[in-house]
Amino acid sequence: MLHRTAEVRRGGTIVVLGANGGVGSTLVQLARHAGITVIGTASARHHDTVRALGATPVDYRDPELYATIRALAPEGVDAVFDHVAGPGLNESWRLLRAGGTLVAYGNASTKEDEGGNFWPTIRLFSRLALWNYLPNGKGAHFYNLWAGRRFTIAAFRAKQREDLTAVLRLLGEGVITPQVAATMPLSATADALTLAESRTVAGKVVIIPDA
Ligand SMILES: NC(=O)c1ccc[n+]([C@@H]2O[C@H](COP(=O)([O-])OP(=O)(O)OC[C@H]3O[C@@H](n4cnc5c(N)ncnc54)[C@H](OP(=O)(O)O)[C@@H]3O)[C@@H](O)[C@H]2O)c1
Repeated sequence: MLHRTAEVRRGGTIVVLGANGGVGSTLVQLARHAGITVIGTASARHHDTVRALGATPVDYRDPELYATIRALAPEGVDAVFDHVAGPGLNESWRLLRAGGTLVAYGNASTKEDEGGNFWPTIRLFSRLALWNYLPNGKGAHFYNLWAGRRFTIAAFRAKQREDLTAVLRLLGEGVITPQVAATMPLSATADALTLAESRTVAGKVVIIPDA
C-alpha cells in the first residue's frame, strides 16, 4: 500500500487511520523507516502506543479531528490509508494535496450494517472510481492483498514473495516490531476473540497451542 500503491517518497507526510491496529501499526513503522512523517488516528487510550511507534496521534472521536490534521499538515498530505470508509471517506479524500493518493482497504464503519456489506462495498468502489476521473491530480485506489491471485497466479506469488520477504527481513532486523496485545491459549479462543473485538487492544491478540 505504501510503496506500490501510494508510492510515498522520503520526506512525505501520510495519515494512517487506526494506527494502533495490526495493519495500521505496521504501516506506521514501515513509513517511519522510509523517512515519512505519519499522523495516526486512534482512540485516546492508544496515543502513547502510537507516539512510541513514531507517529503523531490524533483522536478519531474528536469532532475537530480533520481540523487538527489540517493544522498539522496545512498543505495537505501525500497519502491517506483508510480502512473505515463510510462518510469519513470524503474527509480522507479532502486531506490530500494535489498529486496525493487515497488508499482504501476496508470498510469497518459499515461491516455491521443490516443487509450486509454488499451495497456499502459497491458504493465505496463507485466513489473511488468517480474520484479518479476528477481533474484534480489526486488518485483513489482500493488495495486488496489478494488481488490477482485467480488470474495471474505467478505474478501474484512473485509480488507477495518480494513484499513479504522485505517486511520479514525488517522484522528480523528489529526495524519493525509486531504489536502483540495479548497471547492466549487455543482453549481460550472464545475469550481471545472477545478481547480482539473489544476495541480496547493495541495490536493483535495471538492464539498459541495449549501447553
Ligand atoms: N484489503 C486488504 O487486503 C486487507 C488486508 C488485511 C486487513 N484488511 C482490513 O484492514 C482493517 C484493519 O485490520 P487489522 O487487522 O489491522 O484490524 P485491527 O487490528 O482490529 O485494527 C483495527 C483498527 O481500526 C480502528 N477502527 C475500527 N473500526 C473503526 C471505526 N469505525 N472508526 C475508526 N477506527 C476504527 C481500531 O481502533 P480501536 O482500537 O480504537 O477500535 C483499530 O485501530 C480491517 O478492516 C480489515 O478488514 C484489509
